[in-house]
Amino acid sequence: MTNWKDIDQKAKQWIIEAGEKIRHSFDSSLSIQYKSNPNDLVTNMDKEIEQFFISRIQETYPEHRILGEEGYGDEVSSMDGVLWIIDPIDGTMNFVHQQRNFAISIGIYGDGVGYIGLIYDVVHNELYHAFKGEGAFMNDIPLPKLDKVEIEKAILGINPVWVTENPRIDYQLIVPIVKKVRGTRSYGSAALECAYVAAGRLDGYMTMRLAPWDFAAGLVLIEEVGGSISTMTGEKLDILTKTSFFVGEKHLHKHIIEEYLNK
Ligand code: IPD
Ligand code: CA
Ligand code: CA
Ligand code: CA
Repeated sequence: MTNWKDIDQKAKQWIIEAGEKIRHSFDSSLSIQYKSNPNDLVTNMDKEIEQFFISRIQETYPEHRILGEEGYGDEVSSMDGVLWIIDPIDGTMNFVHQQRNFAISIGIYGDGVGYIGLIYDVVHNELYHAFKGEGAFMNDIPLPKLDKVEIEKAILGINPVWVTENPRIDYQLIVPIVKKVRGTRSYGSAALECAYVAAGRLDGYMTMRLAPWDFAAGLVLIEEVGGSISTMTGEKLDILTKTSFFVGEKHLHKHIIEEYLNK
């Protein structure tokens, strides 16, 4: 039997420890490299933090599998067993340029079910945490279930690139949504944007392409506050594939899918 409480306690302890390492790194110089293109950054800290989690998990739970953005974990092609999905620094561009607006993100799944979600905003010392069936919390303060919100009063997380011509979606579908909502915000960290939806700071967050490590933790948080989760066309997400992504308060989510995206 998997002891989820034990895993939860360890994961929390390690994420706080990793946050300390990141805070200390601000005193020394970063080594920055490019991945797929000159705007796709990775630093020595992204790699070190991922390796830190992997060594802790492997020592403590050798039977668990790990999917990490920087590739130090396992080759994962199924959700069987206990799977840790880790983004050591979500929002690396912000980490490099701003030293804020980034987070550590860890989602822990058992046979495809999300049990634990942890998103740690290191600089603000805000730890968003959800445990399946027990709710979501910010620094141990319970987050209430999301209240119904009308589109005219909604704040939507979206990157402005999606209202310009782009290869992934007809931007003319998005323009009317952006015009109708009360406001839009773009923070540059998918994990934090999910945490903000769970905390009611945003009413929805949409984007055309995320990877499993960007949203694995966020899904558990959003689930626990009663939000809706889907692709941009309202389909169920496949956790292990890169996908379009839309989460939000459930009435708002349904309204936007039906009236704007699936017309
Ligand atoms: C990125 C951030 C960003 C999102 C990108 C992600 P990274 O993650 O979450 O907000 O728009 O799609 O790749 O690379 O900084 O971990
Ligand atoms: Ca990255
Ligand atoms: Ca990420
Ligand atoms: Ca990352």
